Amino acid sequence: MKKIISVVGARPNFMKVAPIHKAFQKLVTRHSSLVTHKICHTGQHYDDKMSKIFFDELEMPKPDFYLGVGSGSHAEQTARVIIEFEKILLSEKPDLVIVVGDVNSTIACALTAVKLGIKVAHVEAGLRSFDRTMPEEINRILTDSISDYLFVTEKSGLENLKREGVSEDKMFFTGNVMIDSIVNFLSKVENSKILENLFLLPFNFLLVTLHRPSNVDSEKNLKNIINLLNSLSKKIKIIFPVHPRTRKNLESFGLLETLNSNIILTEPLGYIDFIALVKNSSLVLTDSGGIQEETTYLGVPCVTLRATTERPVTVDIGTNYLVGEDTHAAEKVCRDILANQFKKGQIPEFWDGHAAERIANILLNDQR
Ligand code: UD1
Repeated sequence: MKKIISVVGARPNFMKVAPIHKAFQKLVTRHSSLVTHKICHTGQHYDDKMSKIFFDELEMPKPDFYLGVGSGSHAEQTARVIIEFEKILLSEKPDLVIVVGDVNSTIACALTAVKLGIKVAHVEAGLRSFDRTMPEEINRILTDSISDYLFVTEKSGLENLKREGVSEDKMFFTGNVMIDSIVNFLSKVENSKILENLFLLPFNFLLVTLHRPSNVDSEKNLKNIINLLNSLSKKIKIIFPVHPRTRKNLESFGLLETLNSNIILTEPLGYIDFIALVKNSSLVLTDSGGIQEETTYLGVPCVTLRATTERPVTVDIGTNYLVGEDTHAAEKVCRDILANQFKKGQIPEFWDGHAAERIANILLNDQR
C-alpha cells in the first residue's frame, strides 16, 4: 500500500489536485489495498472565496491536514510551511508527496519532504518563463531540481528539463490536470447562473483578472492598466473579479474611484462561475498563468499582460497573445480581437481530461 500526501496552498492549486484525488479514488475502488491518498492544505490562501468554495465546487474532501500558515513575506510564508509540514510528514510517514504548480507552498513542501528522504512528484514540471524576477520561476526551478517524478504539461517543459540536465527517466509527458477539471465540471459550468446574475449576454463582455506583483504592486503599472480598461470599456462591458492583493492596491493608490461605470468589479469568484465567464467572454485580459491554458482549451482569445510566458504552447498553437507591459500594444490587440480578427487556436496534446489518470497509474506502477 502506497501512502501519498498531495499539497494544496493557493487558489491555482485546487483545480489541479481535485482530478488527482479523483483518479486515486477510482483506483482505490478497484483495488482497495493499493493506495491511501491524503490532502494537506497549507493555508497560504485562506479566505472562503480564495479557498473553501473550491473544495466544495470541485467535490474535494475536507483536507486531512490544515497548516494555517496565512500571508506574510516570502521568507515568513515559506518558513512557516516548512515547519508545519515537517510535523505532518514525521507523524504520517508517507511514501510520496505530490506538489503542483509554482507557489510558495510548492517549493516549501517539496523541500521538506526531500530532506526527510520522502519521494516528491511535481505536477506541472518544466515550465520556464526565463524571468528570475518572478517568485514562481524560482519556485519552479528549485522544485524541479529536487523532485523524483516530473509530470509535464507541454513539450517545452521536456526540452527545458533536458537542457537543465534532468535524467529522462524522471520525466513524464502526461498532459494538463487543470484541463481535467474543466472537462470534469463542464456540465456544472453550463448550469452556472453567473451570466444572468451579472446581466450579461454571451460573447458581449471582456473578462479581466490581475494579480501579478509586477502589474499590481507598482502604482504606475496599475494606473496604466486601469487607463487601458477605462478606454476599452467605452466599447464593451468589462467584468473584473478582483484578487485580494489587487483590491488592496487599487484602494491604496486611490484608483477605485477612477474606474468607468462600464467596469463591473466583483469579489473573487468560485471555479464554476469563473469558468462559465471565461467560456462566454469575447476576450480575456489577464496576467495569470493558468488562465492562459484555460482560454486556449476553451478557444477564447486571451491577451496576457506579461512580457514572458512559461506556457509557450498557448501562444504557439493556442489563443494567447503576449503583449508585455505596453498597454498601448495591449489595446491594439484587444481592439483587433473585438473586431473579430483573432487566431482560432488548437488544443495541445494530452489536454484531454485524462492527465491525472496517467499520473496516478505511473505513480502506482513505478517501483523506484
Ligand atoms: C499566490 C502565488 C501566485 C499565484 C497566486 C494566485 C506565490 C509566490 N504566489 O500569489 O503564484 O498565481 O497566489 O492567487 O506563491 N490574501 C487574502 N486572502 C487570501 C490570500 C491572500 O486577503 O486568502 C491577500 C493577503 O493580503 C496577501 C496577498 O493577498 O498578503 C497576497 O497573497 P499571497 O499568497 O502572498 O500571494 P498571491 O498574490 O495570492
